[in-house]
Amino acid sequence: MMKFPGYSLISSFTPFHCIILKKQRRLSALDLSFNNPTKSRRTLSVCATKQQLHNINTQIEMGGQQYRPPLFSVAPMMEWTDTHYRTVARIISKHAWLYTEMLAAETIVYQQENLDRFLAFPSEQHPIVLQIGGNNLDNIAKATQLANAYGYDEINLNCGCPSAKVAGHGCFGVRLMLDPKFVGEAMSVIAANTDVPVSVKCRIGVDDHDSYNELCDFIYKVSSLSPTKHFVIHSRKALLNGISPADNRRIPPLKYEYYYALLRDFPDLRFTINGGIDCVDEVNAALREGAHGVMVGRAAFNNLWSTLAHVDSAVYGVPNSGLTRRKVLEQYQVYGDAVLGTYGNNRPNIRELIKG
Ligand SMILES: Cc1cc2nc3c(=O)[nH]c(=O)nc-3n(C[C@H](O)[C@H](O)[C@H](O)COP(=O)(O)O)c2cc1C
Repeated sequence: MMKFPGYSLISSFTPFHCIILKKQRRLSALDLSFNNPTKSRRTLSVCATKQQLHNINTQIEMGGQQYRPPLFSVAPMMEWTDTHYRTVARIISKHAWLYTEMLAAETIVYQQENLDRFLAFPSEQHPIVLQIGGNNLDNIAKATQLANAYGYDEINLNCGCPSAKVAGHGCFGVRLMLDPKFVGEAMSVIAANTDVPVSVKCRIGVDDHDSYNELCDFIYKVSSLSPTKHFVIHSRKALLNGISPADNRRIPPLKYEYYYALLRDFPDLRFTINGGIDCVDEVNAALREGAHGVMVGRAAFNNLWSTLAHVDSAVYGVPNSGLTRRKVLEQYQVYGDAVLGTYGNNRPNIRELIKG
């Protein structure tokens, strides 16, 4: 087994089955079973640990703006987390970090005449992270340079998408996890072309490359070959055997124990947990377990109001906007009327604006 100085491998610390057992005991003590689909619900409360309180009160300074840290973020979701969704999400939560849909570096490079359509966003959407995808270093560099003008707060590289188009003949997305050296180079290229922090979103493995050791190898190489200090961990592996992207978010089991082991083994890095976290109670439970940040995907789209309405108070400990659902819709209507047809050919149209 290879050894790297930056982390202790499974063989060199507590046997893995003990970690899992310990984890299960700790989780059940919290009355919250992460692996059990019939998750118990806890009442909404800010039961912050000292560390969490410190995090909540710490503000991040970026481009002269102060943000609260990314304790809660909305996941990048193609065709879902477009600028319209992000607008309504921001009306509801002032502090959630919002990720864009993945944008291929090639799209940015070859659509230079149309960049606003892909990259522009209203300033209210800060803090906002641009996710890019790709496997061509030149295009990744150019895309990063072109995106700079728009003022995103972080740039994230997609190393988790399993779709045939992306990870199949596209050869990027989750397939990049099989080439950590390349991801290190790509992250260096992104960092060299922007002033904002850079991050990677990945799975915990691909096909039978799914050992904790291989995940550590990926994290170690990427973080030592590039300035990447933040990883978003979708805590299930991807299967590249032709199952659909939706099944790839359902069939491979969630293994949160990998995520928590990374927290322990890479204390100098920041990790955001993702996958199967459906409500603010579960977000807070993960934060109490030590997660640096929690990313919510499908629940933030399918149950927009119930997921986001309590984020500011229950996660960040600050007052909610106080808006009723009716007021949120009224504000969104003003936005919708203003942007309808902005890009000609009736784009965006009403269907695009209200698809959520
Ligand atoms: C419709 C849809 C589109 C997605 N598109 C992306 C994407 O563009 N980039 C990405 O990294 N993940 C993408 N994902 C995966 C999510 O970001 C997230 O990792 C996954 O849904 C698991 O989180 P959840 O259980 O909270 O939904 C997508 C998920 C969905 C449902």
